[in-house]
Amino acid sequence: VIAPPPGAWLLPGLVDLHAHLREPGQESKEDIRSGLGAAAAGGFTDVCAMPNTVPVNDSRMVTEAMLARAHDVGGPRLHPIGAITMGQRGEALTEMGDLREAGAVAVSDDGRCVTSSSVMRRALEYASVFDMPVIQHAEDHALTEGSQMHEGSVSTKLGLRGWPRVAEDIIVARDLMLAEYTGARYHVAHASTEGTVRLLREAKSRGLRVSAEVTPHHLLLTHEAVGLYDTACKVNPPLREEHDVQALREGLADGTIDAVATDHAPHGILDKHCEFAEAKPGMIGLELCLPLLLGLVEQGALPLNRLVESLTHAPSSIARLPDKRIREGARADLVLIDPEERWTIEASRLRSKSKNTPFMGRNVKGRVKMTLVAGNIVFNGGS
Ligand code: NCD
Repeated sequence: VIAPPPGAWLLPGLVDLHAHLREPGQESKEDIRSGLGAAAAGGFTDVCAMPNTVPVNDSRMVTEAMLARAHDVGGPRLHPIGAITMGQRGEALTEMGDLREAGAVAVSDDGRCVTSSSVMRRALEYASVFDMPVIQHAEDHALTEGSQMHEGSVSTKLGLRGWPRVAEDIIVARDLMLAEYTGARYHVAHASTEGTVRLLREAKSRGLRVSAEVTPHHLLLTHEAVGLYDTACKVNPPLREEHDVQALREGLADGTIDAVATDHAPHGILDKHCEFAEAKPGMIGLELCLPLLLGLVEQGALPLNRLVESLTHAPSSIARLPDKRIREGARADLVLIDPEERWTIEASRLRSKSKNTPFMGRNVKGRVKMTLVAGNIVFNGGS
């Protein structure tokens, strides 16, 4: 019998459209067991796993192996995302029908943008046969070669090569045209620029079947956070400027951006304790997403109903998972939250194998107390 804290909230279980669980291949950073454990502690009942594993998830075999592993581990459900191209490079598309049949919910080359228009067109057409969204990491590599952070005053001050926001906008603009042309389902991963929000708003106003996600870090931090070469803030796409953050918040609030996704990207200590130029991009997110964003709600920058929808119903409908809305007879995929509990983000409190986050030491309010997947308790207040 559970006695929830007075004033606790019961919400539908959270769905993450974008996590890197590193298994197979980089289990020292994270594996399916630790990743799903972190997800449960963060209130997630469903986690979509990006394919930039080693080997890349470009086959039925890898998809099935991941699902078998998740089944053995138990806890939150894992939903593999297959690669768009074999090995996430080149022109050869994956066998998307096989990936779908094996259990993949979408295709993406995340970590590597599909820059060829003809490959993207074929990918959209092929994925639409299986009703899978194509999730694009929008980055024109010709414009980001060697770049380390957002191109702006901070990159100039630090002498680091900049990643201009137009490198994202160009690909989003092209892809929206291709999505319209093919009629396929297209999803923008980790939107980071004001331009992306504007392009999406226009596309949606014309009824295109497109969707987008934003990460907590792009909603909360700007390039100023990089300070004096803080590698914890190195991430793809990079942290942008105040007006981008404002546009992303507005886009999320008005539904132009459908979902919040963590882009949970675990990296080892040595991947971050090095020169900025050598550091791996990415930060963990599964256990921090909800408390960090409850802070935005408290500030009045995000309506609570949009936060809940963007972490539950919106991502589940993009990945075509069962409806997350709480109703009579539905399976109990739930998260219990104490919205008043204050705590400090510390490495010892995090279940993820990796601790790379710029939010370390931050005081937050709101704590996941319990997570249930199909009626089973998969996280219980840390015990
Ligand atoms: C991602 C990772 O580590 O897998 N990192 C990140 O900064 N988002 C891959 C990537 O998008 O580069």
